[in-house]
Amino acid sequence: MILGIPKEILDNELRVAALPETVAAYRELGFDVLVQAGAGAGVLVSDEEYQQAGARLAPDAASLYGAAEVIVKVKQPWRDHASGRDEVEMMRPGALLVSFLHPAAQSNHAMVKQLAARQITALTMDDIPRISRAQPMDALTSMSTVTGYKSVLIAANRYAKFVPMIGTAIGTIKPARFLIVGIGVVGLQAVATAKRLGAVVEVSDIRPAVKEQVESLGGRFIDLPLEESGEGSGGYARELSKEGLERQREVLTRHLAQADVVITTAQVPGKRAPILVTTAMAEQMKPGAVIVDIAAEQGGNCELTRADETVEHHGLLVLGPTNLAAGMAGDASVLYARNVAALLLHFVRDGELAIDPADEVLAGALLTHQGEVVNQTVAGLLAASRG
Ligand code: NAI
Repeated sequence: MILGIPKEILDNELRVAALPETVAAYRELGFDVLVQAGAGAGVLVSDEEYQQAGARLAPDAASLYGAAEVIVKVKQPWRDHASGRDEVEMMRPGALLVSFLHPAAQSNHAMVKQLAARQITALTMDDIPRISRAQPMDALTSMSTVTGYKSVLIAANRYAKFVPMIGTAIGTIKPARFLIVGIGVVGLQAVATAKRLGAVVEVSDIRPAVKEQVESLGGRFIDLPLEESGEGSGGYARELSKEGLERQREVLTRHLAQADVVITTAQVPGKRAPILVTTAMAEQMKPGAVIVDIAAEQGGNCELTRADETVEHHGLLVLGPTNLAAGMAGDASVLYARNVAALLLHFVRDGELAIDPADEVLAGALLTHQGEVVNQTVAGLLAASRG
């Protein structure tokens, strides 16, 4: 069976879905591996290194997609400007595609329909269930780890002062105060990174369960006087009532006024990200403070945020980066490639792919199969967008 690794074509996407170490593992599983020339260029892995690991080279996207029965990708298929063709259009009918597909985003609905129409079996890495046995396949967690780390580095880079306490012969510089709001995977990694840089770190989350984790990393948890639980199902948050949100904003306003750097990552599954920093709240912050809003793609936690832009307002900088994992493509690719390989390993039986829709991992990740959009949430969104 031929497994293909294309070169990613979205702007600024430097990651790749398989590296030479994973190619070797796929070869051992019995796959014939085909890699598009230049696929590893963004992570400085040469075509020769892939060949040494046992891959064959495809000169372009059309020849790769024309041959591959299994395709491993990082981001959703898009139009290939080199050939003027959609990537889906180039795929073999009946092929298996494993990628982040972001099927809930309206901009991807036409692509999802096209996958079904071309009889592609598509597994989306966005929807790997968060159960213990699927942890090695959990690419969302891998990418969030990278995002949390990078969020602190870009904030520190834009902040015009030291982060750690610095003692000099002419006086001591005080450490920066970081406020991190939303302590899922991104937030926890941001706390750990900010502590390593020497910041004083405060955090806020509506799930009290994270308090202990934050304190074990040296952060200070801000207790919120909420009369409701922020704990939803499956370890995720639930949306606060209007009153609860107001109470949280009141408390945060005091902490924002002292913060030098604010990193916001708060999200509630299936909802727009909550606005936790209104423009009026931001205007009470210190000039020179930096906000990095990781929830920008879901609408943002700060009212001033514009996705993928830097907004200057009253001496503040507000950054809304949406694909920080691609900005650290090397290790992001190492982790992602291992997650994808673990998923495929899960389905290979006696050298064949066994797609069992009853399997819990598959039931979460399976998006299209046998000409249908099988993920019911996405099917509902597609029906609604047809009007
Ligand atoms: P997420 O990206 O959905 O949300 C980020 C954070 O925002 C959450 O901690 C949430 O409580 C918080 N939040 C929501 N509304 C807020 C508000 N108004 N104010 C402040 N914070 C707010 O979270 P992520 O990273 O996807 O993690 C969700 C859960 O999944 C966590 O409990 C995590 O431990 C768990 N998890 C489990 C895994 C497994 O078992 N394999 C793997 C990864 C995560």
